[in-house]
Amino acid sequence: MALLELKGINKSFGGIKAVHDCSFGVEEGSITALIGPNGAGKTTAFNLISGLLTADSGHMVFENKRIDKLAPHKITRKGLSRTFQISRDLKEMTVIENLVVHSPTQGFMDLLKSGILKKELDRAMDLLDFVGITHLANEKAKSLSYGQKKLMEFAATLMTDPRMILLDEPAGGINPALLETIMEKIIEINKQGVTFLIVEHNMDVVMNYCDPVVVMAYGTVLAEGSPEKVQSDPKVLEAYLGGS
Ligand SMILES: Nc1ncnc2c1ncn2[C@@H]1O[C@H](COP(=O)(O)OP(=O)(O)OP(=O)(O)O)[C@@H](O)[C@H]1O
Ligand SMILES: [Mg+2]
Repeated sequence: MALLELKGINKSFGGIKAVHDCSFGVEEGSITALIGPNGAGKTTAFNLISGLLTADSGHMVFENKRIDKLAPHKITRKGLSRTFQISRDLKEMTVIENLVVHSPTQGFMDLLKSGILKKELDRAMDLLDFVGITHLANEKAKSLSYGQKKLMEFAATLMTDPRMILLDEPAGGINPALLETIMEKIIEINKQGVTFLIVEHNMDVVMNYCDPVVVMAYGTVLAEGSPEKVQSDPKVLEAYLGGS
């Protein structure tokens, strides 16, 4: 059964059709990859799913309920979590604070007013332990290395106990050892029943860890299926060669 389903989604920026008649489903329990050449519309699709952008037309369904008109925090509350780029405010905050602002009960303003609740703090510490960075709990986010930031962001997506997580390039720019750590954590969480949709350019990651694979090009879905199937699809090869 599809946990998330996009049906005929469109989004234009001025004259650019960033996402065009895009339809695909993400099966419950899967680690689905969303791939495609630069500019294919993958990040825009993520921004539409998570409510950061509103589609011009089309339907989006999560757990059999329409989500395409909901604000980002309502979508998160429904169990769909994603990483966000760390804003300037969050960079000045500590790692543990960065996790706590993602918790379901603590909005950013609540946090400023009431301080950090013990329950949320415990949860955040457990998650930092899970990704192996408890020693960085009180460091400012801006002092982290690129890889450590990826681990913090991943831990933050787990604060809301999501049913599904969207990750935009979790392997982008990190070393192979850390990459393996992140992928192992993703698999561990997936085994607990959490569904993943991952945008990734690293084909080793896609082929080894993801199934199925959805291929986007020019804003729409070009192919979908097992890694082997899409890898040998002439349309996919052409899209990548044409795009480079
Ligand atoms: N806010 C925006 N304003 C104008 N154009 C945009 C905006 N966001 C995206 N686009 C355009 O929409 C198209 C799709 O971009 P998008 O970032 O979704 O691609 P992508 O598949 O994530 O690419 P990449 O692999 O490089 O991250 C591109 O042509 C891009 O220039
Ligand atoms: Mg992108």
